[in-house]
Amino acid sequence: MRIIKKLSFVLSTVVIISCSQKVLQPKLALVSKNNLETRVDSVLKLMTLEEKIGQLNQYNGFWEITGPTPKEGQAAKKYADLKNGLVGSMLNVKGVKDVRALQKIAVEETRLGIPLIFGFDVIHGYKTISPIPLAEAASWDLSEIKKSAAVAAEEAASVGLNWTFAPMVDIARDARWGRVMEGAGEDPFLGSQIAIARVQGFQGEDLKARNTVLACAKHFAGYGFAESGRDYNTVDIGESTLQNIVFPPFKAALDSGVRTFMNSFNELNGIPATGNKFLQRDILKKEWQFDGFVVSDWGSINEMIAHGYAKDSKHAAEIAINAGSDMDMESSAYVEHLAVLVKEGKVKESLIDDAARRILRVKFELGLFDNPYLYCDENYEKETIGKPAFQEAVLEMAKKSIVLLKNDKELLPLKKSGLKIVVIGALANDKTSPLGSWRIAADDDTAVSLVEGLQQYKGNKLSYVKGADVAVGRTQFVWETKINTTDKSGFAEAITAAKGADVVIMNLGEHGLQSGEGRSRTEIGLPGVQQELLEEIYKVNQNIVLVLNNGRPLAIPWADANIPAIVEAWQLGTQSGNAIAQVLYGDYNPSGKLPMTFPRNVGQVPIYYNYKNTGRPELPEADSVFWSHYIDQENTPLYPFGYGLSYSKFEYSNLELSQNSFAGDGLINVSVTVKNTGKYRGKEVVQLYIRDLFASVTRPVKELKGFEMIELQPNESKKVSFVINKKSIEFFTANSKWEAEAGDFKVFVGGSSAQTLESNFQYLNN
Ligand code: BGC
Repeated sequence: MRIIKKLSFVLSTVVIISCSQKVLQPKLALVSKNNLETRVDSVLKLMTLEEKIGQLNQYNGFWEITGPTPKEGQAAKKYADLKNGLVGSMLNVKGVKDVRALQKIAVEETRLGIPLIFGFDVIHGYKTISPIPLAEAASWDLSEIKKSAAVAAEEAASVGLNWTFAPMVDIARDARWGRVMEGAGEDPFLGSQIAIARVQGFQGEDLKARNTVLACAKHFAGYGFAESGRDYNTVDIGESTLQNIVFPPFKAALDSGVRTFMNSFNELNGIPATGNKFLQRDILKKEWQFDGFVVSDWGSINEMIAHGYAKDSKHAAEIAINAGSDMDMESSAYVEHLAVLVKEGKVKESLIDDAARRILRVKFELGLFDNPYLYCDENYEKETIGKPAFQEAVLEMAKKSIVLLKNDKELLPLKKSGLKIVVIGALANDKTSPLGSWRIAADDDTAVSLVEGLQQYKGNKLSYVKGADVAVGRTQFVWETKINTTDKSGFAEAITAAKGADVVIMNLGEHGLQSGEGRSRTEIGLPGVQQELLEEIYKVNQNIVLVLNNGRPLAIPWADANIPAIVEAWQLGTQSGNAIAQVLYGDYNPSGKLPMTFPRNVGQVPIYYNYKNTGRPELPEADSVFWSHYIDQENTPLYPFGYGLSYSKFEYSNLELSQNSFAGDGLINVSVTVKNTGKYRGKEVVQLYIRDLFASVTRPVKELKGFEMIELQPNESKKVSFVINKKSIEFFTANSKWEAEAGDFKVFVGGSSAQTLESNFQYLNN
């Protein structure tokens, strides 16, 4: 056993950790068992300035951990920093063996033995992959989303990880932006509910539990508003949008206990988010009283040089720490410059203390001081990875994420026997694409393909023809960008096959690597030659079910006008093919609703349901062009926010308000009757929107304020009730406060943002 030098003076005992390996444990916990802050302070007191700064330093997994020790270059420097207690956290190290090896260095070989936190992008699963977050959002099923996050947490924690860089809670209105796949869509209310579900799912009830991980609300803030949808681009938005649209999901995540935030690559109104004092100190830490810590985005401290905001890395470190960015992900700016900056008086040591305290606090909360190897158990790791229960959970999530966009001719659900079905499209046979682009730990070829899913149904005659690739490019490396293909040599075979089929299932859309970070697109139709393929097949057989895979809203006006059945199946993860097959065959009646508006063409983007009315919302007089519109396209989207069909039909009636006005802390009960008038049992997401007709700052034409999922048998009706109160109508007013203003309102209830019953009410005073 090794004696931990300085700490051994303050520690009364050393203990052996009951983990697969015996180690000496600093047992800082003994300093004061009950009071977290005292325990944190007791550690802080022992630390040199350099060691405190070390806690603020996060490195990427930088060498073959179980291989030879790095002797030169960056890796050798980082390795030395680790041994010298100058690293507080690592990212992208995975697997118990590697995590333990590094933790052992931190705990046994550094002067103070402070454990590391291990972070990883567990965005929608670790090895067992659930649907991309945008798809999960389409379920509007908060408990299922929470469960999906809990599954991801359990699997990730079993491999030694204790921190996920999720959820991304950035509101996004621009389908060109590749990262829309990673968020919950365009709406702050839905986005907030989902942020809560995800944080609760990841963090559970107890951060010390072996099946939970720390969550991280990212990217604070404004990242989803990158100009022209180009990733990392400038963000310039006003206070009203920032407060009413961007902030709410972050605040919701915070209120549900999220312990870390990540700042952001973008500048916000001229100041990079990473160096933004207003965001990190004034709002997050002061106004919202956040006492966890903020991690920078990857290298974003040094990126302030390219932004034109910092002179050099030293200047960037000064700006970032002063602005409230606590941990430096991969810039090395803190570890290299902060000590000098403190000595020069440019950074107060109290700020370093504050940042280190925040990080230590969270390490205590995770239980790492009590047992740094809490997450290191190879047997548990083996038992846990890919558990059957996880497969079931991601299958459930995947089914619920699917949105039925069109079902004319009742082509769906498919009959279970007697049909000759031809499946066309490279995606249908792809076992990697459904995993999406954020699946660093999942192996290629581990998703159930659509063809495999359909093969489970033996009653029909099934055949598959590729037709055309979506894109070409290596898939071995997860970050490889896919290039659209132009090769049409497979068309003829597909056309011949389609001719004799009763139903053609065309699986088209984006490859999993065509959305995600760094993957913005200026064309948001079907990539490559797929549109042409679709039109060629349609010429010989119109009984087409179009199954879309995509990480963003697509503009598919031709398909909408011509193809009888369209199913939005996103990228659904490991169980993708099974989920889609069960929906196509009606074993699951689709219940998803779009969390983001689908445009008619890319020129309408950004397009979103909660837009402002303008002073010229409609044609003032016949033949006038002087109103807010396009001369070549309608203002309306192809598919609105909240839209999604079922194999059944739901009728809304009897919208009733308990009273037509309320005051102060009063309320109005709003109820509506929903009837299943179709042939199948089905689920419907009943949505409530309001509109504030005039206010001190203009308000959107509709804002989601409540939703409820109900299930109805054929012919069954249910009365669904909502409450409208002061909270429902509060917004960031001209007084720069969240307030409810007296005035006139509309209330809308329906099955999508565009199809609603409506009524009116008044709010009388504050
Ligand atoms: C992304 C973050 C991610 C980080 C670490 C960055 O490029 O913007 O969302 O968590 O990398 O992988």
